[in-house]
Amino acid sequence: MIRGRTFLLLLFGCWLISVPVMFYNLEEYHTLGGKVFVDCPSGLCPSEEGHISRMAPGLPEWVAPPDKPDHVWPSFNESEDRILAQMSLNKQDGDKIKLILIYAGFLNEEIPIGQRKFVEDECPVTNCRLTRDVADITKADLVITKLGTRQLKEKYPNRPPNQIVLWFQLESPKHAAASGVVNWTATYRRDSTLNAPYYKFVTYKDGAGHKPAMTRNYARGKSKKVAWFVSNCLATNGRLEYAKELAKHIDVDIYGKCGTKRCPRREHRRCEELLSKEYKFYLAFENSHCRDYITEKFFLNGLSNDIVPIAFGAPPDDYARVAPPHSFIHTDDFSSPKHLADYLMELDANDALYNEYFQWKGSGEFINTKFWCRVCAMLHEAHSSGVHMWYDLNQWWSGDGVCFKYQPNGKPKPKWQSWRNASSKYGYLNNTYHILWP
Ligand SMILES: *[C@@H]1O[C@H](CO)[C@@H](O)[C@H](O)[C@H]1NC(C)=O
Ligand SMILES: *[C@@H]1O[C@H](CO)[C@@H](O)[C@H](O)[C@H]1NC(C)=O
Ligand SMILES: *[C@@H]1O[C@H](CO)[C@@H](O)[C@H](O)[C@H]1NC(C)=O
Ligand SMILES: *[C@@H]1O[C@H](CO)[C@@H](O)[C@H](O)[C@H]1NC(C)=O
Repeated sequence: MIRGRTFLLLLFGCWLISVPVMFYNLEEYHTLGGKVFVDCPSGLCPSEEGHISRMAPGLPEWVAPPDKPDHVWPSFNESEDRILAQMSLNKQDGDKIKLILIYAGFLNEEIPIGQRKFVEDECPVTNCRLTRDVADITKADLVITKLGTRQLKEKYPNRPPNQIVLWFQLESPKHAAASGVVNWTATYRRDSTLNAPYYKFVTYKDGAGHKPAMTRNYARGKSKKVAWFVSNCLATNGRLEYAKELAKHIDVDIYGKCGTKRCPRREHRRCEELLSKEYKFYLAFENSHCRDYITEKFFLNGLSNDIVPIAFGAPPDDYARVAPPHSFIHTDDFSSPKHLADYLMELDANDALYNEYFQWKGSGEFINTKFWCRVCAMLHEAHSSGVHMWYDLNQWWSGDGVCFKYQPNGKPKPKWQSWRNASSKYGYLNNTYHILWP
């Protein structure tokens, strides 16, 4: 859960260019393409240039999406986020400017209205205009909102019949219920119409920019083992219970309310250094076990520092899809916290093995996924191609297989969730959306 925890993010994140004073949800701002980071410890910050235009002479090229470049709409059993393909879309549907209404509730002041955002972001398609004026709901081509269509219909009966409702959510279903029908979705889930991941890593082509032989020893000078910064001690997936069990077998320092260590928020720089300099492993434990739900805890607190993140949340396959190669450890790969601790001790005693988890550094970058460029381009794409789609949120967002569901079958409730214990298969996301090709 992110909302209202701006400071926690600042605590371990890179230093921000500008810290919006009243901004209540920094992660939304960032995920949806707000200004990003400078001065990150390991040069691993999201690139400021972002975008394909980054492929200027001299800059390393990104590995292109493995799928077809025109694969921009989600398909059944989706395995691609389609982000690069959407970023490359440059077809414009006539000269008409599409009107996009940002409906109350988020991104209040940060994103400029009008056409500016699309121009500033150097979008391939700039023929869109942002508005926050609710009166525009009677003519907007698209409404981005956290409401479902039914709620909108009740409030605003006079919406145009072809208006696209884009449902936006960065929380997991465990913390954000949803129902009703919407046309498009923008969430961290890969099978959203517009995937809005917390961070996206892109590998450089031909290993460009990759420092050849890694000379640095990331284990040097580290006297401590496992760290965790956490403030919500009540997550129902048992992450605290897991950490406490782990702590019986290896030193785990828990900072914040749920533990005994403190590192004050105002000293976030020092806290961040503490991770990189003194600790070998970081518990990037999510508050829910839901498919694809991988947050800044993993990317920012973990990968962007010189520390190996230990994942607990989404299944290992979901992490493997978005993380740099051999960059993390997953609790589900071990049959118990004790077995995990054994492995961590092994890495602790073997610098060569430990350093393998840092080989990926320099092999790619975290990119700005140009959310608003993609909204605009997809809107033009939808209009020119005539694709219609809609999601029943009840099924798509909260249906079977999305989050871990515990089915007791007479057995005692486990102390923590693990996909190893999932009673049903989670082999693919059950895409219960509807798509109509013209
Ligand atoms: C879904 O995709 C995965 C990976 O591409 C594949 O292993 C699996 O068999 C697919 N499942 C179905 C039902 O198509
Ligand atoms: C939007 O969703 C509705 C169902 O709520 C559907 O009838 C309509 O065709 C969709 N429109 C587009 C443009 O996808
Ligand atoms: C969950 O899975 C682990 C590892 O496979 C197993 O040891 C444990 O007994 C399981 N717990 C339950 C409640 O099924
Ligand atoms: C997908 O979801 C639908 C609707 O909930 C359900 O009827 C169907 O059995 C599910 N399919 C799988 C493979 O889980």
